[in-house]
Amino acid sequence: MNGFEINKIIAALIFTVLVVFGIGKISDIIFNVEKPSQAAYVVEAPTIQTTTSASSESGSVDIKALLAMGTLEHGKKVFKKCTACHVVAKGGKNKIGPVLYGVLGRQSAAISDYKYSKALVAHGKKWSYGEMNAYLLKPQAHIKGTKMAFAGLKSEKDRASVILYMNTFSDNPLPNP
Ligand code: HEC
Repeated sequence: MNGFEINKIIAALIFTVLVVFGIGKISDIIFNVEKPSQAAYVVEAPTIQTTTSASSESGSVDIKALLAMGTLEHGKKVFKKCTACHVVAKGGKNKIGPVLYGVLGRQSAAISDYKYSKALVAHGKKWSYGEMNAYLLKPQAHIKGTKMAFAGLKSEKDRASVILYMNTFSDNPLPNP
């Protein structure tokens, strides 16, 4: 191989490199239309409104089916777990927790002479069946920062029963769901 041939090879290589880069540049110029920073038209994703307020309060729980699992008799037993801190009878006093007479359907944190946690005050919801069910399942998970030191009632039957039981202690019990 003489010098001339090596030169030819190098020239060919350089040429190839130039062509490859050149094509890249040219196609850039042709195809690379400058992207606008904003899309010319914004496709608005439709915001799906959940109009059923009941489902948004109670998640996916079917309250009717849940309450059907409960009985007042069983509720009375389950409520014994609450009596260390709560009275449910009419005219009862606050203990460690607020008096629960008429709690269903009532605004949360509504007993004026009871000092609630900031978390429960901020919660600002009514004690619907769904809210009560979610709170009693796991108080600290449903209302972060609540001072109700109670682990929760895992059993659906227990929750349903105690909710039905509490609802009988009221001037305005919640209607059946
Ligand atoms: C160890 C004590 C304790 C036990 C046991 C307990 N609670 Fe409570 N409960 C509290 C306290 C304290 C609060 C106030 C929570 C706050 O302010 O965050 C509360 C708040 C509540 C509230 C909100 C009341 C309102 O006025 O908004 C409900 C409802 C409730 N408890 C139901 C129950 C039920 C039902 C049980 C039994 C299954 C139970 N609690 C067991 C201490 C307790």
